[in-house]
Amino acid sequence: MSDVEKSLFCGMNRAKDPVNLTDMEKKHLPVIDCPDEVKAGEPFKVRVKVGEAAHVMLDAHFIQWIELHFGESFYVRVELTPVVSLPEFTISLVKHGKHRKSTLRVVERCNMHGQWESTKEITVNE
Ligand SMILES: [Fe+2]
Repeated sequence: MSDVEKSLFCGMNRAKDPVNLTDMEKKHLPVIDCPDEVKAGEPFKVRVKVGEAAHVMLDAHFIQWIELHFGESFYVRVELTPVVSLPEFTISLVKHGKHRKSTLRVVERCNMHGQWESTKEITVNE
């Protein structure tokens, strides 16, 4: 493993310039597809995919897990098995009306390239 690859395991990796992603960022940053606004108490779908360019799922190099948080609160964890699964899922969530704006955070871990985070702001309407 190169020094550059080792440094990816120090802390959280995020997009350095969201309008000009590197190839590494395109393969690792979670892509979040969900409504910008939701209604409190009503289910909505969130689709998560790693990343905008397909990441390999080989025994030696694969996405190990994907987690979904709202702010600091944990919501979902998906554990992945290489070869037989793809790093994506769709899930139904329900937000309740305590916070008008909420930050959806998705974190994934690649066994060779560390943890990567993407976020999306969601407005919860009463
Ligand atoms: Fe990777």
